[in-house]
Amino acid sequence: MCGIIGYIGSKKASSVMLDSLRKLEYRGYDSVGMAVFDKELRARKGIGRVDLVNDRLDFQELKGNVGIAHTRWATHGGVTDDNSHPHFDCTGKVVIVHNGIIENFLELKDQLKRLGHGFKSDTDSEVVAHLIEKYLDLGNTFYDSVIKSVGELKGSFALLALYAGEPDKIIAVRKDSPLVIGVGEGENFIASDVPAFLKHSRKAVFLKNHDVAVITKDAISIYNLETCREEVKQIQRIDWNVEQAEKTGFPHFMLKEIFEQPTTLRQALNQNMQKLNNTLREIKQARRVYFIAAGTSYHASMIGKQLLARKGIGSECVIASEYKNIINMVDDDTVVVAISQSGETADLIEAVRESKKNGAKVFSIINGPGSTLTRISDDTIYIYAGPEIGVASTKAFTGQLAVLYLMAMPELKDELITLSNKLEEMLKKEGLIRRIAEKIRNANDVYFLGKGLNYPTALEAALKLKEISYIHAEGMPAGELKHGTLALIEKGVPVMVFAPKNEFFHETISGAQEVKARGGYLIGFGDEKHEVFDEFLKVPKTLPELYPLIFTIIFQLLSYYTSILRGNNPDFPRNLAKSVTVK
Ligand code: G6P
Repeated sequence: MCGIIGYIGSKKASSVMLDSLRKLEYRGYDSVGMAVFDKELRARKGIGRVDLVNDRLDFQELKGNVGIAHTRWATHGGVTDDNSHPHFDCTGKVVIVHNGIIENFLELKDQLKRLGHGFKSDTDSEVVAHLIEKYLDLGNTFYDSVIKSVGELKGSFALLALYAGEPDKIIAVRKDSPLVIGVGEGENFIASDVPAFLKHSRKAVFLKNHDVAVITKDAISIYNLETCREEVKQIQRIDWNVEQAEKTGFPHFMLKEIFEQPTTLRQALNQNMQKLNNTLREIKQARRVYFIAAGTSYHASMIGKQLLARKGIGSECVIASEYKNIINMVDDDTVVVAISQSGETADLIEAVRESKKNGAKVFSIINGPGSTLTRISDDTIYIYAGPEIGVASTKAFTGQLAVLYLMAMPELKDELITLSNKLEEMLKKEGLIRRIAEKIRNANDVYFLGKGLNYPTALEAALKLKEISYIHAEGMPAGELKHGTLALIEKGVPVMVFAPKNEFFHETISGAQEVKARGGYLIGFGDEKHEVFDEFLKVPKTLPELYPLIFTIIFQLLSYYTSILRGNNPDFPRNLAKSVTVK
């Protein structure tokens, strides 16, 4: 993944970029670095989170008004200082930062080595700086050198390059990895995502695939790499406010985003009903319907599938990285519903592109404005959750559910709106949920059980707990436990059960009884207590279909507090990144 930012203007580039890096850290936090031009190119970089590296290296000692910076999620090459970005050519006059994967880097590296280039890192990215150097040496301009270099690359890239010989510009290239320009007055920004420059500008130009941008302090020119023609810039106004990208008093973004959900739920429900009806009509008319998504969004899609089934509409959920298994079934009588917070998940983008090639109609349910998926889908339904920065997805999940409910069951709209008050009520139970977290903080394994719509809820609960507490967790249908997993239940193993008083109540309780008989520690969540539970958290009554939204607040807070009690930082779970823009 990685997050990149470039700044050109009259402010101190290092200060602007340091702040931006903090906003982009959700994309990766293995290492961080920046380069600025101050008579010559100067850089500092090292492993660790932004603030830790800054404590060691003091980025703001770097002067100069133009620079590029990077926060890394390692893919090629270990987490070392040398592998941190930025990367230079041999002369120290060219510097680049890169997000993506250069698939043919080994081949290029060999060729460049034979030409005498020396490499300092094991990364795929460093070849780009040397390629640009090669073309500069042949007498090309900076721009032509970048274009020619990019022509040799296979893979995906968002690249920023600076050249000491032409320090009045940053050149940016995009192929498959996101890049967006922040348009300022006498200054411009280029970044992986909007929060990086939101504080300075709300005017954005989203680069398209194969765009190359030449960014100076007063001008932005965008060309298409394939046609070499200049493109018309489309400036979009971003209606996110600065506070949405700040913690505003909360200790972590995750907690802030959990607490935003009564509001973001209402925002997600504020849809053009005509558009949702049209989407539903297309879904009904199609011969096949596939939901495709990854991670938390995939769990939302599983709820979507059940909601459609209740209306007699068949669909299948496919994990984005597994789309190849069904792609032969996708044709012009197929509707694909792509669900994604970021709109930038590489596996999903590929799945959508391939589905479109086969003639499918693609609707996407997205949070990230201007993201790649919004551009390649036939139509996009936004969830309007505002920036989600915590790596573990929270408010995007409830936003996605809100849209799915509204699309499949528009008759529930009023109840969904009042549900935001019930979410407020649940948030007030924070203290009780924290006490449950204390009970499971030392567990090795935790199980979540649910039936019907609460089965995907159990899956999402387990994912949330795993992601940020590092406790092994599994979610499963309450009726499935006895077919294997029951063998793992012994005295004291925590088993959490989502058991609202709905059509599945008795079967869910049966599953709980099986756990009880084996000595498991049962924690129940529902609107009516049952004696089987060792502990029970009562939730407000709602319609049988809508409990997943209420339970979501519980498991999100539970995961958050378990993570805190175990001394983790829930905003930065180890080994993970928020937006997985590589395959
Ligand atoms: C990553 C994130 C998850 C997210 C998944 C899908 O794995 O850590 O939180 O659910 O990607 O992301 P998307 O942006 O497509 O919803």
